[in-house]
Amino acid sequence: MEFMLDTANLDEIRKYRTIIPLAGVTSNPSILKREGAVDFYAHMRAIRAIIGSEASLHVQVVAADFEGIVADARAILANIGEDVYVKVPVSEQGLKAMKVLKADGVNLTATAIYTKFQAYLAIAAGADYIAPYFNRMENQNIDPRAAITEMAREIARVGSGTKILAASFKNVGQVNAALECGAQAATMGVDILDAALSMSVIGAAVADFTADWEAVHGAGVTVSDL
Ligand code: E4P
Repeated sequence: MEFMLDTANLDEIRKYRTIIPLAGVTSNPSILKREGAVDFYAHMRAIRAIIGSEASLHVQVVAADFEGIVADARAILANIGEDVYVKVPVSEQGLKAMKVLKADGVNLTATAIYTKFQAYLAIAAGADYIAPYFNRMENQNIDPRAAITEMAREIARVGSGTKILAASFKNVGQVNAALECGAQAATMGVDILDAALSMSVIGAAVADFTADWEAVHGAGVTVSDL
């Protein structure tokens, strides 16, 4: 299971890389917009410096036409690093670009996936990751659970190395569902992690354990003090 952060905020990445087993960082132009007019390449290199070379960095193209997507991909690789996963939307032009980029050995994350058919095409195109948009699918009255289950079946059926990187989450339950339906990876905003880890019952349980221990050993005494 790979947990990724869907953010371009350096402080959020710095914080959560010390907390979760961080497998990677994803973003898109809308996520980047929240950071203001940052120097794109320098910002992405800063993310790489924070997460290290072991975690994957997924960077999205901006152009929507074949030539532009290929040019964006090459610029991303040249300016950020050859190991970057280039995020390409599964559109007609995106698929066309994926063929060329995959032939050159580029790491690809096929994104903006709302349907099983888009996923099947991207798997056949050799995408390393496919990113179904869980919440956006629900908004379109498309069942993401059923779709991700079938995507996982297709990957197994054809013996593909493609991984499902589920994205577009608005709550923890959606992340659980995606993983349980067969997604190998999930990318989420820190709001999801904040909500999951700040449940009052977790804090209350820890406080109860501390109080019971201190009732015997004294206030402020911990195991390491013995
Ligand atoms: C991944 O990077 C996707 O682009 C992202 O998860 C989409 O999320 P949204 O539906 O919240 O915009």
